[in-house]
Amino acid sequence: MKQVKASISGIEGYVPDYILTNAELETLVDTSDEWIVSRTGIKERRILKEPGLGSSHMGARAVKGLLEKTNTDPAEIDLLICATITPDFVFPSTANLICDQLGIRNIGSFDVNAACSGFVYGLELGAQFIETGKYKKVVVVGTDKMSAVMDYTDRRTCILFGDGAGAVLLEPNEEGYGVIDTLIRSDGVGYNNLVQRGGGSRFPASHETVDARMHFLHQDGQQVFKSAVRNMADVSAEMMERNQLSHDDIAWLVPHQANRRIIEATANRMGVGMDKVMMNIAHYGNTTAATIPLCLWDYEKQLKKGDNLIFSAFGAGFTWASAYVKWAY
Ligand code: ACO
Repeated sequence: MKQVKASISGIEGYVPDYILTNAELETLVDTSDEWIVSRTGIKERRILKEPGLGSSHMGARAVKGLLEKTNTDPAEIDLLICATITPDFVFPSTANLICDQLGIRNIGSFDVNAACSGFVYGLELGAQFIETGKYKKVVVVGTDKMSAVMDYTDRRTCILFGDGAGAVLLEPNEEGYGVIDTLIRSDGVGYNNLVQRGGGSRFPASHETVDARMHFLHQDGQQVFKSAVRNMADVSAEMMERNQLSHDDIAWLVPHQANRRIIEATANRMGVGMDKVMMNIAHYGNTTAATIPLCLWDYEKQLKKGDNLIFSAFGAGFTWASAYVKWAY
């Protein structure tokens, strides 16, 4: 019997219309376009401005587009996994809300919280359900409204992040295309270096937590930078080694978009030229769980059936992850 793989049979993204440029950030904090571009590669990011809309809105827009594009009836979806660290509510899950907005009912849906590695974590999970034959159509969506947790008086963080969503459809494939291998890793030793401290069960929302600005993302940039460079490079190299892939075998590196310098270090370690690296950080910044599917969406027309892709991510936790995907169309 042929082995069943979970192929990505469609991809769709969604970004809000509002563009927050480096020039506008210069009016909010003591920064400059030159500093931001040279240290991060970011020129602008999208922001979901409309009040009352959260990550589920963007996720639902991406999934709706995905279903239309792939001629999939919402009733055919067996499972929906949502990767996010900016859920609309602490509960219920953003996956539940996305299903509700699209009229997808009576299926399993849940959130994955693995920060910037969340999409690859979700992909690994979704792929298992296809490989075992349990489900035929699984949606994995990454969506984050990072502007909701940004302190726009903190120049060290507010320049980095943006809002967006991206979704893929996973379906069984017996011809060897799809998710070939995945690696997910974590080490909670880094929890305090990248964290939203307020609003959870340890420090429930109170006047004190708000006064202490604990509901904003806090990051020790240099610590995170060092760990990101090491772990993203390590996990990508391990993925190549255990699948006996040389740099010539790789059509595309699809890295998490946190900082251009981290991406370059990862590509360098893998021996992959920058012409084979998907990069859209200049226009979206770091959209956390959405960066990898947004890259696939932007580069979809350049992808060919059989292309070997390496996904590579690092984020809060710390978490890091990689996937080896043989493109199916
Ligand atoms: N504009 C101007 N100056 C700034 C800015 C800014 N926006 N931000 C910081 N600076 C200043 C600092 O105050 C510092 O000044 P000082 O030396 O006078 O104190 C100087 O620039 C250097 O600051 P560093 O923090 O050393 O700058 P660095 O080169 O490390 O870049 C950055 C900072 C871009 C945040 C980098 O550390 C980084 O990319 N970190 C990793 C981010 C990441 O990968 N996150 C993980 C994923 S996110 C997730 O999971 C949710």
